[in-house]
Amino acid sequence: MGLSTAVALALAGHRVRVVEQQTQKLEVLQQGQVPFFEPDLEAAILLCADNLCFTAQMQKAVPTADIIILAVSTPPSPAHGADLRQVFAALHQLAVFLPDRQQVLVVKSTVPVGTHLEIQTLMQQLAPDANLAIASNPEFLRQGRALRDAVFPDRIVIGASETWAFARLQQLYAPIMAGIVQVPENLEIHRPKHAIPILEVSAASAELAKYAANAFLAMKISFMNEIANVCDSTGADIGDIKSTLQLDTRIGADFLNAGLGYGGSCFPKDTKALSQLALRSGYEFRLLKAVIEVNNEQKYRALNKLEHVLHGLRDKQIAILGLSFKPDTADTRESIGVDLIEELLARGAMVKAHDPMLAQLQLPEFSQGVTLCSDLANCLESCDAAILVTEWRCYQEANWALLGQRMSQRIMFDGRNTLSLKAMQEADFVYIGIGRN
Ligand code: UGA
Repeated sequence: MGLSTAVALALAGHRVRVVEQQTQKLEVLQQGQVPFFEPDLEAAILLCADNLCFTAQMQKAVPTADIIILAVSTPPSPAHGADLRQVFAALHQLAVFLPDRQQVLVVKSTVPVGTHLEIQTLMQQLAPDANLAIASNPEFLRQGRALRDAVFPDRIVIGASETWAFARLQQLYAPIMAGIVQVPENLEIHRPKHAIPILEVSAASAELAKYAANAFLAMKISFMNEIANVCDSTGADIGDIKSTLQLDTRIGADFLNAGLGYGGSCFPKDTKALSQLALRSGYEFRLLKAVIEVNNEQKYRALNKLEHVLHGLRDKQIAILGLSFKPDTADTRESIGVDLIEELLARGAMVKAHDPMLAQLQLPEFSQGVTLCSDLANCLESCDAAILVTEWRCYQEANWALLGQRMSQRIMFDGRNTLSLKAMQEADFVYIGIGRN
């Protein structure tokens, strides 16, 4: 996500130096390419190439910078919710190169509330002569549309320790707030018609706001998944419920899709981290606990349904469609597809799995009984059922009447409610959705 922010700021007209210390990634970036799959980034890099450069060396970026942005990842940690080792390692490295003029150190990485104080104390020890203001400035970018979210954000949130630091960041974001950033042509239609608001809050609030936003969105998803489960037991239809809810401006139209649950590197990690953070501060966040529990169970609940329809999963051949945690990304962190493969194997099934980005995915070593396929028709060959896990467009556009001929039984478990009921009926499939009646 750091790269999307860097590119957005370069598109906004700033000169941006990106420090990347993984040699392979750096080489790719220096050739103007992107070392992972993220739509629009390469086209955008072409547009702002004059403002953007990449280096492995802190000393080439830190001393001359007016603003230093820390965007390293904070992976999950069992003890504290978020593992801050990369944050502190970067601070140790850059501290050596801080000049004695005013600079803002912006923390963009998702960090527990109070981290800004730890950083402040550390920097005072490591660089007592530096003139550094710490600011917390969380990002709200989604994978698969990270650049779009970076250039056209809903809001910018800043918790700065000094007034001059806030003013400097306001200047940094001025072109984005005014909506005058140059973007690749296909993003033009998303350019907002209104100015982007900037919020000045305390650093603690900025840190918590990030977790609150992710937890709230996760709550919406778990809520819809529970409503879908009630639909299943009552005969109501989740599509009708969604249509009703999304027209209520107080509820909002987004993140109301029921399915197999949320995955990825953010919601699972951040909901757990917020729950632990609350507990450490003496508060039990019961609602969030339930959100997490519902999410953990949702995929297995779905599998139980399929097990029932198939009269058991032992020795059945099941196709898993989609291994990335959502479409338009090659990220498999907390992938529901991977979890389902492991559970299917544990229940005695054989699995064939497909993903349109298979070659670019990082997957665990599966035990015997799993075949990975880059061709959808091969994947479905002789399968007793298919589970659509990730709503890639290729599944919606597939000719299911033809593909169904490859299968032993035409059973489709649509874990994202994304296929046309009419098309599946015409293709002679037994269709099972999530709360779709
Ligand atoms: C999420 C947030 O949406 C971003 O605002 C935030 O910046 C980011 O985490 C982060 O903390 O870095 P991301 O994880 O990339 O972004 O993906 P989302 O689009 O939010 O989807 C997360 C999961 O929720 C996916 O597994 C998706 O399938 C699931 N989902 C989403 C649903 O099950 N139903 C929905 O209606 C929407």
